[in-house]
Amino acid sequence: MNRIVAKAEYSREPAVKMMQIEAPKIAAKAKGGQFIVLRCSEQGERIPLTIADTDPEKGLVTLVFQEVGKSTAMLGQLEVGDEILDFIGPLGKPTHMDDYGTVLCVAGGIGIAPVHNIAKELKKHGNKVIMVMGARTKDLLFWEDKMRAVSDELYITTDDGSYGRHGLVTAVEQELLEKDRDQGDINLVIGIGPPIMMKFVAKTSEPFGVKTFVSLNPIMVDATGMCGACRVTVGGKTRFVCVDGPEFDGHQVDFDELMTRQRIYPEQEKASLELFRQKQQGCDCGCGCDNGGLS
Ligand SMILES: Cc1cc2nc3c(=O)[nH]c(=O)nc-3n(C[C@H](O)[C@H](O)[C@H](O)COP(=O)(O)OP(=O)(O)OC[C@H]3O[C@@H](n4cnc5c(N)ncnc54)[C@H](O)[C@@H]3O)c2cc1C
Ligand code: FES
Repeated sequence: MNRIVAKAEYSREPAVKMMQIEAPKIAAKAKGGQFIVLRCSEQGERIPLTIADTDPEKGLVTLVFQEVGKSTAMLGQLEVGDEILDFIGPLGKPTHMDDYGTVLCVAGGIGIAPVHNIAKELKKHGNKVIMVMGARTKDLLFWEDKMRAVSDELYITTDDGSYGRHGLVTAVEQELLEKDRDQGDINLVIGIGPPIMMKFVAKTSEPFGVKTFVSLNPIMVDATGMCGACRVTVGGKTRFVCVDGPEFDGHQVDFDELMTRQRIYPEQEKASLELFRQKQQGCDCGCGCDNGGLS
């Protein structure tokens, strides 16, 4: 069992929370770009979440997650001192580390968390990291200090202009790539955020011919490469994000298919969340069960 040792709420609407969890073996092994799969209860769904930070000395793993449905809502209700039933990882292939020179990281919304861990490692490998982080509005931005600590340059955008520069992260990406066109210092772009944002990060870098990694987040079931739920098309070939990814060449990904497949079960997901909320109102312990035990 893995104990929660710290928790914070970064925003309410939508609810975005941070948890630090005791998981010494994972903290010792995890590399940038990898994820864990957790389960809160015996009957619970498995949720993949990216490792946002680690503290190998204290044996801690940091996650940042948005409550979008039943399982993330259940996770969000756990408190410091509670234990997570299953906590498996590190999973997925780590970000390929190299001496790239300069790397342009573009992080959107909840994608700020995974980009942090990758940027931290890129810096350790001696790379210059230029960071662009953005969100819809100021209240949804988090980790400005942590991102500054792992970046040589930091640019912040908000869609509504409430903080930093008014506009989308891709506008800054475009400008930086144009500025760099002659020098050619930027040898890699890493874009992580909502699929639509990653699609446009990749489209923006394509004309400049700069290699671009994106981290895909399809629905996962077993996370072992056996069930096929997380299949995506990359360069015309079927790939499984849980074992072949989560990172892929952004210029090769079929983002439209990814977004369509993410929306396969909206009715079932809505019904499951509704049921969870209804049960919760009748349960003493606040976990959403009928009778005081986890369901
Ligand atoms: C490798 C990987 C890493 C991830 N890392 C993070 C992370 O660090 N932080 C974080 O907040 N989320 C992350 N996700 C997404 C997270 O796993 C889902 O939000 C979660 O599983 C949804 O479960 P649920 O039961 O709460 O919602 P559900 O009831 O299953 O779904 C509710 C809504 O969320 C959408 N949804 C479901 N699964 C996903 C998904 N995988 N990606 C995007 N939308 C989804 C559904 O279409 C639906 O609209 C990651 C996903 C993958 C595959
Ligand atoms: S989640 Fe089953 S194959 Fe990837």
